[in-house]
Amino acid sequence: MGNMLITPILKWVGGKRQLLDCIMPLINKNCSTYVEPFVGGGAVFFELQPKKAIINDYNEELINVYLTIRDYPDELIAKLEKHKANNTEEYFYAIRALDRDSEYKKLTNIERASRIIYLNKTCYNGLYRVNSAGQFNAPYGKYKNPNIVNATTIKAMSKYLKGAKIDIRQGDYKDVLKGLRKGAFVYLDPPYMPISSSSSFTGYTEGGFSYEKQVELKLECDKLKAKGISFLQSNSDCPEIRELYKDYEIITVQAKRRINSNALKRGEISEVLIYYVSNAKQSVSE
Ligand SMILES: C[S@@+](CC[C@H](N)C(=O)[O-])C[C@H]1O[C@@H](n2cnc3c(N)ncnc32)[C@H](O)[C@@H]1O
Repeated sequence: MGNMLITPILKWVGGKRQLLDCIMPLINKNCSTYVEPFVGGGAVFFELQPKKAIINDYNEELINVYLTIRDYPDELIAKLEKHKANNTEEYFYAIRALDRDSEYKKLTNIERASRIIYLNKTCYNGLYRVNSAGQFNAPYGKYKNPNIVNATTIKAMSKYLKGAKIDIRQGDYKDVLKGLRKGAFVYLDPPYMPISSSSSFTGYTEGGFSYEKQVELKLECDKLKAKGISFLQSNSDCPEIRELYKDYEIITVQAKRRINSNALKRGEISEVLIYYVSNAKQSVSE
C-alpha cells in the first residue's frame, strides 16, 4: 500500500476518487511503466503510487504544480502560507486577475503554482476553470476554513515524486503514447464526450475535446492494442462512445456528477470503463 498522506492536491473536474473501487482492480499493478496521459488531479495515480510512471497533461499550470511540488516543496508551502494569511474575497480576485496581465509570464514557477493551488482551494466549487482565453474564471467560494496550505500532503508528495521514477510531461497525449513498449499499462481519462448540451463542459484547457478527437483517441487505443499494450479508459456512457468501442470490453459504472448547469444539482450518472488486456493469462486484478 502507498503512503496514505498522498492524496490529490487539486480538485479537478471529472476527478476519479469516487470510482477508485471500480478502477483499481482493472489496473495491472505488475506493469513495467504506468502511464497516465490525461492525469488531471491524479486520483488514480496518487492512489496507485507506482514506482515507475509517465504522467502528462496538456494543462501547463497543472503540470507546473506537480513539478513545483517535486522540486520546491518548502518554498511552495511558504507562498501558500502567505496566501492563507491574506485570504479575503478582494485578495482572491486580485490573485485571480494576474493571468489577465501581460506581466503574468514574469511570475516564477513557484508563484504560479501557489496561485493555482490557492485559487483551487478558495474558488466556488473548488474547481479549476478557465474561459476561452485561458483565464481562470471561477468566482470566490466563501469557505469558512479552506485547506490552503496542506503542508503534509505537499511534503509527502514531493518525497514520492523525487524518490520514484516519475516522468512528468506537459503536452498532447498522443506524444506520450508514441514511445510505449509492451509491458506498459495506460490509464486514459480524457475529457468526456458530452452527453447533453448542458453538460458540454470542456473547460480544462482552451480548445476543448471534440467528437473528432474522441475518434482520434479510439484510433490511438487501436494502436496500443496492436502493440500489445493493455489499457483502461473512462468515458461517458453515450451511444457515440459505445459505438466507437463496440469491439472492446465495456463496464458500466455509476458516478455522482454535476448533471446540469445548476452547480448544486448533482445526480448519479452512468459512465463507462473500456479496457483491453494484452495477455489473457495475466489477471487484471493482480
Ligand atoms: C477528465 S480530466 C482527468 C481527470 C483526472 N483523471 C482526475 O482524476 O482528476 C481530463 C484531463 O485531460 C487534459 N487534456 C485535455 N486535452 C488533452 C490533450 N490533448 N492531451 C493531454 N491532456 C489533455 C485536461 O487538461 C484534463 O486535465
